[in-house]
Amino acid sequence: MTRFARPAHRLGALLAGVFLIAACGRNDDPQLTALEVDQPDGWDDELALNIPVDINPDPNILEIELEAKLAEIEFREGFRTPAWTYGGTVPGPFIRAKVGETIIVHFRNSLPEPTSIHWHGMRVPNEMDGVPGVTQDPVPSGGEFRYEFVARDAGTFWYHPHINSAAQVGWGMYGPIVVEDPDDPPEFGDDLVLVLSDIGIAEGSGDFLPVDTGGLFGDLFGREGTVLLVNGKVRPTLKVRAGKQQRWRIINTARARYYTIGVPGHTLVRLGGDNGLAARSAELPNFVLVPGERADIVFTPSDEPGETTMFRWVPTERGFGSVFNRPREDMMAIRTVDDPPVIPSAIPVELREIEPIDIEGAVERTLDMTIDLSNNDVVMGFNGIPHWSFEPIEARIGETHVWTLTNETIFAHPFHLHGYFFQVLDDTRIPEWKDTIDIPVESAVRIAIRFDDRPGAWMYHCHILDHAEAGMMGQLHVLP
Ligand code: C2O
Ligand code: CU
Repeated sequence: MTRFARPAHRLGALLAGVFLIAACGRNDDPQLTALEVDQPDGWDDELALNIPVDINPDPNILEIELEAKLAEIEFREGFRTPAWTYGGTVPGPFIRAKVGETIIVHFRNSLPEPTSIHWHGMRVPNEMDGVPGVTQDPVPSGGEFRYEFVARDAGTFWYHPHINSAAQVGWGMYGPIVVEDPDDPPEFGDDLVLVLSDIGIAEGSGDFLPVDTGGLFGDLFGREGTVLLVNGKVRPTLKVRAGKQQRWRIINTARARYYTIGVPGHTLVRLGGDNGLAARSAELPNFVLVPGERADIVFTPSDEPGETTMFRWVPTERGFGSVFNRPREDMMAIRTVDDPPVIPSAIPVELREIEPIDIEGAVERTLDMTIDLSNNDVVMGFNGIPHWSFEPIEARIGETHVWTLTNETIFAHPFHLHGYFFQVLDDTRIPEWKDTIDIPVESAVRIAIRFDDRPGAWMYHCHILDHAEAGMMGQLHVLP
């Protein structure tokens, strides 16, 4: 990986220097450790998220009101954009719960068209999954719906509409969810949610680009926004102190954009992703995060006090034309404050016991992700069948399935399954539970799923939302 050219581990050299000084008998500045100091004052102010009011005094219930509505937001300086929002902000309110807590959401739709909320990655009862026409009726303009479910799994999740979703998500409808595990060690650092998205605004104005921007090529490529956002902000600044760790929970809520997550000069420690911790932590220079997917990482600031480093979007290969001639773009400035460096914590390697799913006797299925360009149209699907003429895949409670996801098309597709976590059958990967996985161009990925409970109709689809709407979506019927 040559993308990031600056030398890493300067903090290591710095620390070696400190030990040298200590060894020489000078002791005027005893080194503090990361756990002994706080984050810099106002470290995450520019990334602040809207926190909803919990109207229920019971500590085991998080009960909130949530309204979908239009709101004028200044994404581009000097121009107002009529965003589609949850609660008037982009992203929507940050739902934070403890594992085992009940979440109740009184949802009201004040948008000019029907909508719904899907709780991406949360193992909710089928009737709470938020898919209009499948698990509930659409919530009409002026209508209401009460969502209630238990936060069963610790991890990083998000919510978004599941109707006209390429447009609605593209216009700003998404919000983060973190389900905390109180047993997580403090060495992971202070939590920071980073919602990565983009929004398609016309040049020199605040207006949205037309829904059909790019025509059929827009459907085929997936529409990436023109303005990059981190927690709804253009190029915010995050303050860090050298050595003082932060736990970044990164969520890709963009309708089509892929991200390569990496910070020049730094190594990241990945703890896990979609469903909380992986079996082991891993040091990585960078990694790809596809639409819908989450990453849970420890960021150890290793710049010198006073320096600023840019966290950038870098062109990320997802098929035809996705990297050609495209510049890097700044997303967030990381400014190291002047306070002296502290000694970072050691991050545990073994994180969680993850039993491999036993695939002996599993039901095998192949899902080929297809694009049909005949008839001057773009029709996508699984095994050549678009979602409007699907045949459901059937499964029974108690069964284990192995699905082989194949992709011979010229674009990569981020595959997402509702309702169940799966394991990727690939010995080179650290075991973890996932609900969204990239299927690169000309590749096949095998996943194992155990249908342990919660019968019902569940969706699976490409999370490039333009692709899902062009047909790449299907249904799984889990029978009791
Ligand atoms: Cu975020 Cu149907 O998905
Ligand atoms: Cu796709």
